[in-house]
Amino acid sequence: MTKTTKSLREDPVRHIVWRGSRLDVLDQRLLPRRVKYVSCRTAADVAKATKDMVLRGAPLIGCAAAYGMALAARRNRLKDVLAAEPVLRRARPTAVNLMHALDHMLAVARNGDERSLSKRMSAAAVRYYRDDLAYNETMALLGAKLLKKGSRVITHCNAGALATAGIGTAVGMIRAGFLTGKVSHVYPCETRPYLQGSRLTLWELMQAGIPATLITDNMAAHLMKTRKIDAVIVGSDRIAANADVCNKIGTYGLAILAKHHGIPFYVVAPSTTVDLKTPTGERIPIEERSSAEVVSVLGAPIAPKGARAHHFAFDVTPHRLVTAIVTERGVVAPADGRTLKKVLSHR
Ligand code: MRU
Repeated sequence: MTKTTKSLREDPVRHIVWRGSRLDVLDQRLLPRRVKYVSCRTAADVAKATKDMVLRGAPLIGCAAAYGMALAARRNRLKDVLAAEPVLRRARPTAVNLMHALDHMLAVARNGDERSLSKRMSAAAVRYYRDDLAYNETMALLGAKLLKKGSRVITHCNAGALATAGIGTAVGMIRAGFLTGKVSHVYPCETRPYLQGSRLTLWELMQAGIPATLITDNMAAHLMKTRKIDAVIVGSDRIAANADVCNKIGTYGLAILAKHHGIPFYVVAPSTTVDLKTPTGERIPIEERSSAEVVSVLGAPIAPKGARAHHFAFDVTPHRLVTAIVTERGVVAPADGRTLKKVLSHR
């Protein structure tokens, strides 16, 4: 094991803890002010925690759903698993990792003796989680190689340990970059309206001792123009077959800005985020959440009473604006459908 790999494995975040008969979930809505866990004893509890953003981030949503299916299998009845699956599937529409995990767990459920259902599903969920953890590490090391020494980078939302089973996707690449001298400073965008950037990513970066300075979402253009920014690094919730990238609202704007300023734009995402069944980004369902989450911040109203507001949770970045997509199977560059399929065929 190299020194970098060892350091990447230190201090994993205990954001979901599998206890066999329940899944304890760190309530990310309260971070960084409070550390509190919510216990999920049924698949419906996991679906609710996902919908309500107690847990979030595409790969973690997939892992939690896998555990949700294992909870549904506790009585060794296939019909319970089949009933739980659509409940989990409806939890959030955009992150395809959720659908991937459910398809995988359904296949496990159907493929074997019903008497061993609970045991098989529990083992499969643990494996699913461990696989994501390993993907993170591989992507981090691959991605860091793309950066030049001492890079100053912008990231968006939280594509870190709190969003995955391991060290994160975009933040994993940043962590590996920092450990190898490739990253010198990080600017996380605060990421309205849920503030994943300020509450979660900055918290993770500070804990890892990585120099970071918070910016509001509307400061990115000014920063790119006036300071030296060497790369933008983000995660993804779904990548279409033509390599269009769906990620947290605001990502598309960052990609346009990066193109204008000649700054490389990297996307880091495991193969479980790729949806080859969806031909282009235009066909990706974009979650629209309650406007109440926009007209108030941390419970405090910030708009006139009765104000209307849009709450698009994600946007799509056309693949032409993406420099490279880093997956655990290799780097997709140029970011187009042909290269994506070719890289995904590597095992
Ligand atoms: O609404 P969220 O917080 O679930 O959105 C998360 C993101 O958009 C992340 O950037 C994405 O899931 C990549 S996570 C490794």
